[in-house]
Amino acid sequence: MTTNNELRRITVFDTTLRDGEQAPGCSMNLPEKIEVAKRLERLGVDIMEAGFPASSPGDLESVKAIAEIVKGCAVAGLCRCLEKDIDAAREALAPAVSPRLHVFLATSPVHMEFKLKMTPEQVLEQAVASVKYAKKFCADVEFSAEDAFRSDPDFVCKVFGAAITAGALTVNFPDTVGYAMPAEFGERIRYIKEHTPGMEKAKLSVHCHNDLGLAVANSIAAVANGADQVECTINGIGERAGNASLEELVMGLRLRQDYFSADTKVDSTQIYAVSRLVSQVTGVKVQPNKAIVGDNAFAHEAGIHQHGVLAKRETYEIMTPESIGIPKNRMVLGKHSGRHAFEERLKDLGLAVDAETLGTIFASFKELADKKKIVSDRDIEALVMDTTVSVPETWKLDHWAVNTGSALGASGVIRLQHKDGRHEKLVSMGDGPIDSIFKAINQIVGKEPELELYEIGAITGGSSSQGETMVKIAMNGRRWNGRGVSTDVVESSIKAYLSAINAMEWDLGK
Ligand code: KIV
Ligand code: ZN
Repeated sequence: MTTNNELRRITVFDTTLRDGEQAPGCSMNLPEKIEVAKRLERLGVDIMEAGFPASSPGDLESVKAIAEIVKGCAVAGLCRCLEKDIDAAREALAPAVSPRLHVFLATSPVHMEFKLKMTPEQVLEQAVASVKYAKKFCADVEFSAEDAFRSDPDFVCKVFGAAITAGALTVNFPDTVGYAMPAEFGERIRYIKEHTPGMEKAKLSVHCHNDLGLAVANSIAAVANGADQVECTINGIGERAGNASLEELVMGLRLRQDYFSADTKVDSTQIYAVSRLVSQVTGVKVQPNKAIVGDNAFAHEAGIHQHGVLAKRETYEIMTPESIGIPKNRMVLGKHSGRHAFEERLKDLGLAVDAETLGTIFASFKELADKKKIVSDRDIEALVMDTTVSVPETWKLDHWAVNTGSALGASGVIRLQHKDGRHEKLVSMGDGPIDSIFKAINQIVGKEPELELYEIGAITGGSSSQGETMVKIAMNGRRWNGRGVSTDVVESSIKAYLSAINAMEWDLGK
């Protein structure tokens, strides 16, 4: 066993808001990104990559907004090795207390020949020029050799060495296509560490994709072989099969300090709350058997397991639910609960908010507690989401009614209020109550987005549970998510659809 003093500190570079967010179906709007950024800061990541500012004006704006708010960790912006990308990123990161410019260029033969159409010499030259250019504006520069694992190791060492001489403080070795095997990846990292000139002056980072389901295993093998930084995302979201999952890396290192003599500074008790948030805002569900944060991660079904856990928890549990922030079953909250008890529960759930927001959420809690006897933790999480990550409402729900049955089609009537004060009311027929009401909303709004996803579930068990609806709509190649919660499933669907419509109106109106 090692003691805390002997532990090597591994830097956690979170890229949920960049590599995660750029994956299909994982997009987030600005208030959602800001909330995720605040939670990542509270989680204790060392660096959060907030976006790719040159990729769109919206990305630049959101990196800037995050750089203004986040003070407890470094904020990075991704750039290709181009001056215009670096300029966009430095503009976005101007308000950051600890900005990091992250420049990347591919080094593998297939990328250099077919994507970049550059010779290795040109790649080396452009990498050095870009690090030097970035360094003029920012002390903290990271250089990534895209597709490093499929690159000639000696060429990577040469490029890394030159990048370090040019001023890079971190050099990152990505397995961009998730092709490596753990032992092989570990050996490669050791080779790079030992053969890169000047490596002692910089940190060696790894960035693993999960195409063969090995992103975490490869990152951990890299740590065992000298990597100083791991790049990862919450719930492992990211391009294709995703990135290495932060929660698995952090808990793996924490639980096996005896093996790795390493740890991170992440506060593991915040993991569950941020995992839930990312899943909610992206609409990407966490698989039930996902390590650490899946619904079944701490469930014991087999009698022999239940017996063992009851006799001694350690028989079948290597960590406690509380260690990742799943609170123990405690006092039930209902309509007689006071503000103090409510605030304490928010803190236990990793959902602490400022005093003003607390007032708004507490009022909604009281309203809900009037309808439902018991307000569950999931209900509370939904109330917090509704208040903290909603965009300004162009359209507000006023009234609705549906008429449906087995013989005739359904009809829906809805009355909405526009932000300018006018009311609009419309009746529409459809193939069911939801279809009729969504059609009525489209007619009032004057837009017909495609409904790409409609999912409905119960927040908790029992017939008094709140219905939770998730929708994704798309128009002209752009996508927006919406979420709605209500004790009535038709109303939760309307709320979800309207929140996606409001996200669209807000985005298009900017
Ligand atoms: O996967 C990758 O290679 C990347 C780089 C831009 C770091 O995301
Ligand atoms: Zn990546």
